[in-house]
Amino acid sequence: SPPKLYGSRRTNSAGTDLSQVPVRARIAKALAEFDKARPIKASAIINGKEMGGKAEDVTSPADRSRTVGTIAEASAEAIDSAFTIAAKAQGDWDRRGGMERGAILRDMADALEGETDRLLALMAREAGKTLPDGIAEVREAVDFLRYYAAEAEQKFAAPDRLPGPAGETNHLGLKGRGTIVCISPWNFPLAIFTGQVSAALAAGNTVLAKPAEQTPLIAFEAVKIFLKAGLPKEVLHLLPGRGETVGAALTKDERTDGVVFTGSTEVAKLINRTLAQRDGPIAPLIAETGGLNGMFVDTSALKEQVIDDAVMSAFGSAGQRCSALRIIFLPEDTADSFIDGLKGAMDELALGDPSDPFTDVGPVIDTEALSLLERHMARMGKEAKVLKQIETGSLASRGSYFGPALVELPSLDLIDREVFGPVLHVYRYKRKHLAEIAGQLAKKGYGLTLGVHSRLGGFHDSVIRAVPAGNVYVNRNMIGAVVGVQPFGGEGLSGTGPKAGGPHYLARLAAERTITVNI
Ligand code: NAD
Ligand code: ALA
Repeated sequence: SPPKLYGSRRTNSAGTDLSQVPVRARIAKALAEFDKARPIKASAIINGKEMGGKAEDVTSPADRSRTVGTIAEASAEAIDSAFTIAAKAQGDWDRRGGMERGAILRDMADALEGETDRLLALMAREAGKTLPDGIAEVREAVDFLRYYAAEAEQKFAAPDRLPGPAGETNHLGLKGRGTIVCISPWNFPLAIFTGQVSAALAAGNTVLAKPAEQTPLIAFEAVKIFLKAGLPKEVLHLLPGRGETVGAALTKDERTDGVVFTGSTEVAKLINRTLAQRDGPIAPLIAETGGLNGMFVDTSALKEQVIDDAVMSAFGSAGQRCSALRIIFLPEDTADSFIDGLKGAMDELALGDPSDPFTDVGPVIDTEALSLLERHMARMGKEAKVLKQIETGSLASRGSYFGPALVELPSLDLIDREVFGPVLHVYRYKRKHLAEIAGQLAKKGYGLTLGVHSRLGGFHDSVIRAVPAGNVYVNRNMIGAVVGVQPFGGEGLSGTGPKAGGPHYLARLAAERTITVNI
């Protein structure tokens, strides 16, 4: 029987300690080498082969004059051959079993970890990721690979024996579903890309991966690392391109046996409809989408802790996390003093180039994201009250920088959808209206993360009961779920489940087979 690697023997990646001067010097060297090297020329990778094609520049959100590389969108022919090769390879990959697939995934994890410095440089340049965010991202990607390796080893190595009458044996086994399409977002261009792909592979599927159009180079480099580490070339194919072209072609195709999607709620619904309307198998969809996440504070909460946690949750990663705090609910009696504290803490945020180790907030991903945020602020200026916004100064002319903002909402009716960036909304509430306010937030339909700050168990219970959320954080920040420790994912408009980095994920990507033998 397989070894029990689950839990105790699995450890998360140690990461990189940016507080050490030699580590910072090492990363600075990697950045200089990255900038000096020839720009990355990325394209589809089919059966291990780089397909090339008509290329477009990929520029940095931190500095639009910097070309990080070029990308050639996957052609219709590339998509077609990826489906053909993946379908042919799937049976063999599945038959290798959980132990062998787990070993390959572990080698991929080691290889990725070994490239940390270069990946940090690439993520800072292509995705505008600060170095601490980049470090967390590499760790998460490595953790996903090792976690799903352990899951494959434990759950896909041999079928479970079930009870039955004398003379009969019953076994329940898991096997891959076929070809899984993985569609990932730009905000975790390495971690989510790797998490989706590794889960689908671990469960015995072959994979067609479509990364976000904003961050194809990171996915391209990751696939090359995986193939070099020993992943068979027939089982993972990279198909970069736009959502409306490559993404739509993949989800429409009858040869797709399932989709793993992380991104906006709108696109998740579109993919759901596409899958339902096409011919071919009834394909499952795992959708991990956005949130309108609240943090509820009461008068017993520790002010300094609330301020630290709110600032980190709302402005970390430039607010470009699905888990990020969007609305903080402050009790009316103490709201002014918390707001003063928040404004003071915002003054300490260093907005700047993501490759500077002391930058707290980098750019937003592109000019489209920037203009959506600017439009939101213009509306808030008229209908709500802008309490503070950090100046971007000369950064604005270099890249897509948006100053973190604090906005007081007179009514929750003013915000119905996720605002994807560093805008923290404040709402003052009266204790006697807590249930009504929590109900109003719940009615928006999201259910991703929820923060609670209070020393009173009764307060925790009432908020947690009233507001749907897949991940609840009490008396701490509400971002940065750790693989295998805080399985992550939401409900309602925030996603279908199962939780990424949790024990039920692989089962959704697998078919179950019961074998009954009359002996
Ligand atoms: P997006 O929905 O615009 O794009 C996500 C992916 O879908 C991209 O690869 C895109 O090319 C593809 N796509 C777009 N249109 C498509 C179509 N018609 N058919 C198939 N694919 C299509 O989202 P984004 O802007 O890249 O990412 C940000 C969003 O992701 C936010 O809403 C955020 O909350 C969410 N997110 C959720 C989680 C989670 O775990 N719940 C994690 C990270 C990000
Ligand atoms: N898993 C990411 C977080 O928890 C989105 O912040």
